Amino acid sequence: MVNLIGKKNTAVFISGKGSNLRNLIKFSKQKNSCIKIDLVISNNKNSKGLIYAKKNKIQTYITNFKNKKISEKKIIKYLKNSSIDLICLAGFMKILSKNFIKNFNNPILNIHPSLLPKYKGLNTHERVLKNKDKYSGATVHLVNSKLDSGTIIMQKKVNVLNKDTPKSLKSKVQQAEYWLYPRAIKKFLVNS
Ligand code: GRF
Repeated sequence: MVNLIGKKNTAVFISGKGSNLRNLIKFSKQKNSCIKIDLVISNNKNSKGLIYAKKNKIQTYITNFKNKKISEKKIIKYLKNSSIDLICLAGFMKILSKNFIKNFNNPILNIHPSLLPKYKGLNTHERVLKNKDKYSGATVHLVNSKLDSGTIIMQKKVNVLNKDTPKSLKSKVQQAEYWLYPRAIKKFLVNS
């Protein structure tokens, strides 16, 4: 059971709004939660998500990735100092190098706004609407060195309606993400 394996020290990586971070902080505060968020990392000093981290007294680290090698090296140092067991990417807009993944040597999860393997990369909602798909959704997957291609942990579907716009679909998919990410983390930790 989740509460028998102990809480995993978790770092959340963000770039923007941070609504998934906010949701994960809420999840981490539940009784018997399987994660404890110790660190929030951002490549963007203006990321609104940093406000949630500060409000919740979570340590933050900002590095702009202008020199990816140096930024990743500094992040690895922070992760090791905080004994981080798990990274959750939540709207983090930089691609982590093979070297980073190898050096961290612990699981990295990501949430992506489509039903992978469909629509890897950006502008997922626009592409779903253009193809007149009946469904879209969100996917939590393990991160490997190829973009949005690691093992899928869990997905949540949403219906696409004729009247949907990229904005309305985005908002539906984000609601699905808030439901999905905590459950996918639990599922992953219980099974690993
Ligand atoms: C989410 O839709 C996530 O799937 C994608 O970026 C968005 C981040 O939103 N990778 P937020 O910053 O968590 O509000």
